[in-house]
Amino acid sequence: MSSGSVLSEKRILLGVSGGIAAYKAAEVVRSAMRAGAEVRVILTSGGARFVTALTFQALTQNPVSTNLFDPGQEQEIGHIDLADWADLLLIAPATANVIARLAMGMADDLLTTVALATRAPLVLAPAMNVHMYRHAAVQRNIKELRNGGAHVVDPAEGEMACGHVGEGRLADTEDILDGAARAISTQDLSGVALLVTAGPTEEPIDPVRVISNRSSGKMGYALARAAWRRGADVTLISGPVDPGLRVPRGVRLRRVETALEMGDAVLEHYPKASVVVMAAAVADWTPDSVSSLKIKKGEGNLRLDLKQTRDILSQLGRAKGDRLLVGFAAETDRVIENARKKLEGKNLDLVVANDVTVDGAGFGVDTNQVVILDRDGTERPLPLLSKERTADAILDSVSALLSPRARS
Ligand code: CTP
Repeated sequence: MSSGSVLSEKRILLGVSGGIAAYKAAEVVRSAMRAGAEVRVILTSGGARFVTALTFQALTQNPVSTNLFDPGQEQEIGHIDLADWADLLLIAPATANVIARLAMGMADDLLTTVALATRAPLVLAPAMNVHMYRHAAVQRNIKELRNGGAHVVDPAEGEMACGHVGEGRLADTEDILDGAARAISTQDLSGVALLVTAGPTEEPIDPVRVISNRSSGKMGYALARAAWRRGADVTLISGPVDPGLRVPRGVRLRRVETALEMGDAVLEHYPKASVVVMAAAVADWTPDSVSSLKIKKGEGNLRLDLKQTRDILSQLGRAKGDRLLVGFAAETDRVIENARKKLEGKNLDLVVANDVTVDGAGFGVDTNQVVILDRDGTERPLPLLSKERTADAILDSVSALLSPRARS
């Protein structure tokens, strides 16, 4: 899962300024293009000391702009055309110098001039030595730019090319593209505290064995990502999933294993949440007792006594207040009927129903085909979509229910 579909067909103007991290801008270009974006590059004179225009020209298949006063380049695509062309201006890496000039509103080279001329959102990915990054002047300039509406992808911590260890390393490409995706998304969930659960739970039988289910967590992670991109303050409570599944840095991630732990974590965050989306496949049963020693094979069958776990969503539904609750109903038969029973029985606002026997829907796969049911009896069937697009459609329904509440 990535920021993929959001950046698809978007026009990204990438400013590359002069720091050692400029070489990483090539990877940003590649990833953005892989996500379907068209990329043009403005290379500053400092940037050109570290990487050549030819690198970016070869990667983007577009001419690279370097000079405000070059008649040839201005004829190819003038700086105003460039500013108008962009859906997004992304500066990665952004040096202390370019940040200072942007904060001052200067227009003394092509990049800063375009930054003033464009109406596209601005995303900055600073990269510099840790002491420079922490310098009061740099922090003041970043704050100024944030106040002016710029999106800043904070640098990562770690070992830097200058030998120092600390904050200042260019953020990972995926984090930069997450920031880009957020910058061009409508912020309809801004200020909404959204709690989402994902993945299976694992119920221990003994120290080496568990009972689990086929949930991959992909749907819940896609929901967390999409909600974050749309401005929500997201907490993701995740059961054991593939460690390769990632969420944007801005999402608060809490890992749990068992249904009991998931329930406790959800209840802990519940008071602060205004929307809860229970996408996790919480185990309905757990062993009545857990053997402290590994159970030996012995003779014949093994009988396990399973007790029911608490139904987290029902518990939330009983103390709902003015929160919006969204449940999932993974069904194999009488899908709509069963889903509606859950909507009513658990006191939900929306239920996302899917027939897990349909090819390409449900557990493990990257796609899903769901029907969204609401309390008014409306059924909104969606086609087979990527889980990312399904997540956006679910959040559209959440957003539609939230806006009248926000207005009242
Ligand atoms: N759920 C929950 N706590 C549980 C079990 C399920 O919060 N112990 C939530 C799931 O996250 C999902 C919804 O309830 O959003 C529906 O889960 P499901 O297991 O299908 O519903 P059940 O009520 O257990 O119904 P059944 O097993 O009969 O299908």
